[in-house]
Amino acid sequence: MTIDKKFIDQFITVTSKAAHSSSYLIGKRDKIKADKAAVDTMREELNKINMKGQVVIGEGYLDEAPLLYTGEILGTQKGPSFDIAVDPVEGTNFVANNMPGGIAVIAIAERGNLFNAPETYMNKIATGPIDKGLIDLDFPLKKNLKNLSEFYNKEISSLTVCILDRPRHKKIIDELNDLNVNLKLISDGDVLGALYVSDPKYKIDMFLGIGGGPEGVLSAAALDTYNCHFQGRFIFDNEKDIKEARSMGIKDLNKKYELPEIIKGDSIFCATGITSSNVLDGIKIDKNNFISETLVTHKNTNLKQVVKKVISLNE
Ligand code: FBP
Repeated sequence: MTIDKKFIDQFITVTSKAAHSSSYLIGKRDKIKADKAAVDTMREELNKINMKGQVVIGEGYLDEAPLLYTGEILGTQKGPSFDIAVDPVEGTNFVANNMPGGIAVIAIAERGNLFNAPETYMNKIATGPIDKGLIDLDFPLKKNLKNLSEFYNKEISSLTVCILDRPRHKKIIDELNDLNVNLKLISDGDVLGALYVSDPKYKIDMFLGIGGGPEGVLSAAALDTYNCHFQGRFIFDNEKDIKEARSMGIKDLNKKYELPEIIKGDSIFCATGITSSNVLDGIKIDKNNFISETLVTHKNTNLKQVVKKVISLNE
C-alpha cells in the first residue's frame, strides 16, 4: 500500500497555513501563543482532508492538550487511514525571539506504521547514508567518528558534528573538542539539526545527543526518504515516564530503535519555515498572498524537494 500523491499538496497546505498563523507571533516573545496559533490552524486544516487520521504524536495527552492531542481523530473520516505526527511549531523559542529555524512539521504514515513515541527525551544519532553497522548509538564516540572519517575518507578533524548546546552534553562536547572535531552547536530545534545530515550542502557529518523523543520520530520520518542512518533510545528516568512507557506497551525500556522500527512503509514529511533558516525561507507576505517554503518528502516516489507555495490571505 502507498499514500496517494494527491495528499502531498494537501499536507503542504496544512504546514504552510500553520506556519503562516504562527508567523504573526514572530518576535512577540510569547512561545505559547506562537504555538497555539499554529496548533489551531493545523487542526482546522487537517480536519478538511479526506482521511481517517489519528494523531500518534501530538501536543500531549487529552488532559494536557485539548487540540491535536495524542489519540485525536482527524479528517473527514472518508478515505485512507493515516497515523499523524505533528509539531505545529518546532523551535518555539525561535519564533518567539525572531531567530532562524522555527518550522511547522507533520509526518504521515499509513495506520500502524508510525511509532507512538512517549513524551520523554531520546538519545539520538544520525548520519547520511552509510554502510550498515558503521555507526552505532552504543559505540564509543571516538569509534563512531573514526568509522565515519574512514568512510568519508577524511580526517576526524574535518568532520562536523551537530549537537544541542545543553549542559547535559558537556562531556560529549568536551570530547569532540579534544578530538578537534568541528562543532555546530544549536540552541534548539533538533529536527532541523538531524535533517542537516541529509544533504552535504549543510556540511554536517553527524547529528547526536539527547533531545525530545517526539522530535526524534519526526526526524526519522524525514531522514527515511534520504536513506539516512538514524537510531534512537528513549530515556525513562522517573516513575511517571516509566509508567507511561509500560502503559504504551513498551517492554524493553532500554531498547535502541532503528529507523525502520520508527517509521515503516510509505510516508510524507512536511516542514514549512516560519522564521528563515539556511534550510527554508520563513513566511513572507506579498500583497494579498503569503508565500511559504516547505521541505517535503514522499518515500514511495522518492520525492525530496523544497516547494514554494503562494496562498491567498483570504483562503
Ligand atoms: P519546542 O519547539 O517544543 O520548544 O522544542 C524545541 C527543542 O529544542 C526541540 O527541538 C528539542 O528536541 C527539545 O526542545 C530539547 O529539549 P530541551 O530544551 O529540554 O533540551
